[in-house]
Amino acid sequence: MTTNIVNLTTIPSENLKNELYDAVEILKKGGLVAFPTETVYGLGGDATNPDAARKIFEAKGRPSDNPLIIHVSEPSDADDYTYTNEIYYKLADRFMPGPLTVILKSKENIPLATRGGLDTVAVRCPINEIARCLIKEFGKPIAAPSANLSGSPSPTSARHVIDDLLGRVDMIIDGRECEIGLESTIVKIEDDDSITLLRPGKITVDELACVAPVKVASAVTEDLKIGEIAISPGMKYRHYAPKSPLILLNGENSDIFRYILSDENESKAVLCYDEDIALYEKSLVNTDLYAFGAREDISEQAKHLFAILREVDKKNFDVIYAPVPSKDGIGLALYNRMIRAAAHTIINLKEGRNG
Ligand code: TXA
Ligand code: MG
Repeated sequence: MTTNIVNLTTIPSENLKNELYDAVEILKKGGLVAFPTETVYGLGGDATNPDAARKIFEAKGRPSDNPLIIHVSEPSDADDYTYTNEIYYKLADRFMPGPLTVILKSKENIPLATRGGLDTVAVRCPINEIARCLIKEFGKPIAAPSANLSGSPSPTSARHVIDDLLGRVDMIIDGRECEIGLESTIVKIEDDDSITLLRPGKITVDELACVAPVKVASAVTEDLKIGEIAISPGMKYRHYAPKSPLILLNGENSDIFRYILSDENESKAVLCYDEDIALYEKSLVNTDLYAFGAREDISEQAKHLFAILREVDKKNFDVIYAPVPSKDGIGLALYNRMIRAAAHTIINLKEGRNG
C-alpha cells in the first residue's frame, strides 16, 4: 500500500478544513489515516465501520479483543453513540476537549469490532486542532488507537509513525511533536457514580477527585496477578518494552549514581535528568546517556519518554537504567509507563527495604 505523507505543521487553522479533504475521503472509503493529537499520534478509521476497525487491528498487529477509543469533535456527540450520564458531563465540562477518555455503555451503532466485543466503548474528545477538524469534517467518530506497531512505544512525532506504519496505512498527517507525549487518562464511570482510573495520564487523580470519588485500578501500579481479569483489556498486554532489559533504580541520586558506577556490564544506557549529565559524562565509561528532562519537570520527562525509548532501542545494550519517578500528580502516568517498559523490574537502593 502507498502511504501518502501530508505535512500540516505550518498550515494556518483557517486552511485546515481544505487541507484535510483527502484525509476525510480516505476515512469515508474505510481507509486509515494517522493523525496527531495532544497526547500521542492516533491511527484513525471510521468508528462505525467494522471493516475499518479490522484494518486498524491488522495495521498495528494488535489483538482484536483490545478495544479502540472513539474520538468525537464535541463532548455531546457521545450521546449519539453511547449512554452518557451526569458524571460524564461533569468530566466533560472540566476536561474536554483534552486528554481524557471515558468508558461508557455503547449504543449499537458502534460495531463490536471497534469495541473489541465489549458492551462498553471508550470516548475521547481531543483538543489538537488537526484532530478536531478531521473528526468534525468526517462527521462521525474516528476510532483510533495509538499509531504504533503493537508493543512499541506510542508515537509522539510523525517520524515515529512513519517508522512503524509506512506502507500499512493510507495517509500519515505530520502535525508536529505531541505536547503531552503520554496517552490520555482513561476512566470508567461506575454504577454508584464513582470513577475508576484505568490508565493514568496528564489529568491527575486529584483533578478527577474534584468531580467524583476516584479509585485507582490496581493494575495502574501493580502487575496483574496470575488469573486476574483485566478491567481494561490493554492492561494485560506487555507494553513498550525495549529490546535490552530496562531496570528502574529507586533511591537517592547519590545511591543511583554509585550503583551505576559499580555496574560491570560492557555496554549500558542510562536515562537521567538534565542536571546529572555533567557528572555522569565525566564518570561513566561505555555508557550512552539520554537526558529526559529537568529533575523537577515531570511533564517534560513525560513528553520525552517514548521518543527516548525508541532511540535506546536502535542499539543493543546489556542493560538500561532509569530512575523510578514519583507517583505524585502526572508522575503516576510516567511511573505506570516506566514500570511496564521495565516489566516491573525495580531495584530498591534505599536501606532496610527489599525491592
Ligand atoms: O491518548 C490516547 O488515548 C491515544 C490517542 C490516539 O487518542 N489513544 C490510545 O489508544 O492510547 P490505545 O488503543 O493505544 O489505548 C486505549 C486503551 C487500551 O489499553 C484499551 O484496552 C483501553 O483503552 N480501552 C478501550 N476501550 C475500552 C473499554 N471499553 N473498556 C476498557 N478499556 C478500554
Ligand atoms: Mg496504545
